[in-house]
Amino acid sequence: MQKELIHWYQIHQRDLPWRKNKDPYKIWISEIMLQQTQAETVIPYYNRFINTYDTVSSLANAKEEDIYKLWEGLGYYRRAKYLYLSAKMIVEQYHGEFPKTYEDIIKLKGIGSYTAGAICSIAYGLPIPAVDGNVLRIIARYYGIKENIAATCTQKEIYEIVRQLIQGYDASSFNQGLMDLGALICTQKPKCDECPIHKDCQAYQQGMRNILPINIKNIKKTDHHYITGIITYNNQYMMIKNTSGMLENLYGFIQYECESPYTYMELFNQAYHADLALVEYIGDVKHIFTHRKWYMHIYHFVLNKPIDHLYTLDQIYQIPLSTAHNKVLQAFLKADD
Ligand code: ADE
Repeated sequence: MQKELIHWYQIHQRDLPWRKNKDPYKIWISEIMLQQTQAETVIPYYNRFINTYDTVSSLANAKEEDIYKLWEGLGYYRRAKYLYLSAKMIVEQYHGEFPKTYEDIIKLKGIGSYTAGAICSIAYGLPIPAVDGNVLRIIARYYGIKENIAATCTQKEIYEIVRQLIQGYDASSFNQGLMDLGALICTQKPKCDECPIHKDCQAYQQGMRNILPINIKNIKKTDHHYITGIITYNNQYMMIKNTSGMLENLYGFIQYECESPYTYMELFNQAYHADLALVEYIGDVKHIFTHRKWYMHIYHFVLNKPIDHLYTLDQIYQIPLSTAHNKVLQAFLKADD
């Protein structure tokens, strides 16, 4: 896939001003600007910045206010402060020459693993991954990774995959190929027909392109994340009545506090002795109770045989539903339009 991706990048890469040379200073400025901001927005800021400060030392000698003026409107102003601090560090510690190793580059203010990897690979051709949300999404789809990509252990696993993939290839084109693939093709709604690596992509092969990646961010202890299943059999929906708890006597869809629809399918099978097939990801519903928040990640499943607890839509409108589960039903019906 490395060859296919690099070949595709060489033909289809976006025409961006920071791709015109390999000056580590200019790559650094571009990568900092690109941290929280889309490439389109960055272009005029980047050009103005480089026209004003074309070397590390010119930036280190600037007036801080002038830097902020150039940054005006780009947001996340701490980035400008750290650029200035780092420029001074580079002048003091490296005689104004941009550092050349990953270890030295990541010590600079405002540079994390992604930015250090991007600079090392683009400016110096070093085989170091640059893994951001786009790359997590692409790799999870390509390898059919069904774990939560928001979890640190999944991110480590994906970093290791990319570290091995990049060895022996043009690291700059490989990393930037992933960036452009993530921005142009392997987007939230992927354009698989145009993808240079769809042939061996597990998400494409197994019809999971609208399900992967699993991305559930756990924010607070009082937050509860559920996989909520709209389980259907022909025109009927599976609903169960709560026999205790906050929503006693109300009906709802079956939900489990787990992170993956595949875990859900196992838990369901243990409880109901029936198999589910995953159809698609519907969306998320948030519901706020007085003292807790529910994040319901809705998936549509179909049953392999009829079982108890099945209701038609007309019947559902006759039974008491909790507000949270009513929102889930509405989200499903809307997605089905
Ligand atoms: N996003 C982050 N780094 C980028 C780069 N070098 N080119 C395009 N988009 C990016």
